[in-house]
Amino acid sequence: MIQIAIDGPGGAGKTTLSKAIAKKLGIVYVDTGAMYRTVGLYVRDHGFAADDVPAVCALLPEIHIEVKFEDGVQNIYLNGVNPGDRIREPEISMYASGVSKIPEVRAFLLETQKEIARKNSVIMDGRDIGTVILPNADLKIFMTASPETRAKRRYIELTEKGQQVTFEQVMEEMMARDAQDAGREIAPAVPAEDAVMYDNSGLTFEESLESLLVFIKEKLGDKLENL
Ligand code: DC
Repeated sequence: MIQIAIDGPGGAGKTTLSKAIAKKLGIVYVDTGAMYRTVGLYVRDHGFAADDVPAVCALLPEIHIEVKFEDGVQNIYLNGVNPGDRIREPEISMYASGVSKIPEVRAFLLETQKEIARKNSVIMDGRDIGTVILPNADLKIFMTASPETRAKRRYIELTEKGQQVTFEQVMEEMMARDAQDAGREIAPAVPAEDAVMYDNSGLTFEESLESLLVFIKEKLGDKLENL
């Protein structure tokens, strides 16, 4: 079993790169942000604010989140239904960040995340993977890129999906969310002490993927061969 922890702010390329690495190595890619987004979606759909702590906590017992890996892809089921791209709406990004500050929400999702890593070799991405979820991971990478690069990637991603947003809106929302995620009291989005910092500003996806694969193979060599 191997565990690779990928943390970092939004738009750093964690998801696309982790997915591609998982495929190359034949391990499971776990997107923990999607789980916070699913809670955020449920809270929004029930008309509550993300910072309404009593209301969010009261909703938790009604939320059943199931994570399934189908054809190598992580699918989330919220009370039996896959919410699909609804969790990717820009509004849901802020809801996810908002509810992720609540200790009860983090505790609610923690065991699901740990259990997946107990049962599978994983590359897991999020904000607290190296610090809280997989403190003994074989490799921890804190991935980042300049704010301009990250906002540009997010902007392209959203407009390609048909979302009506401006670059300025994306940049503003991203900075606010990163500040909230890094500044919160519980499990802040900061690098683990033993994390390797990886800034991919100015690199294409292919360049990043190639350099990361070389790095991972160098670090995990034998373990990867014995998977
Ligand atoms: O990775 P993402 O953008 O889909 O994550 C959405 C939000 O969820 C993010 O702003 C903070 C929260 N999150 C978290 O607190 N811890 C994680 N491990 C993953 C995400």
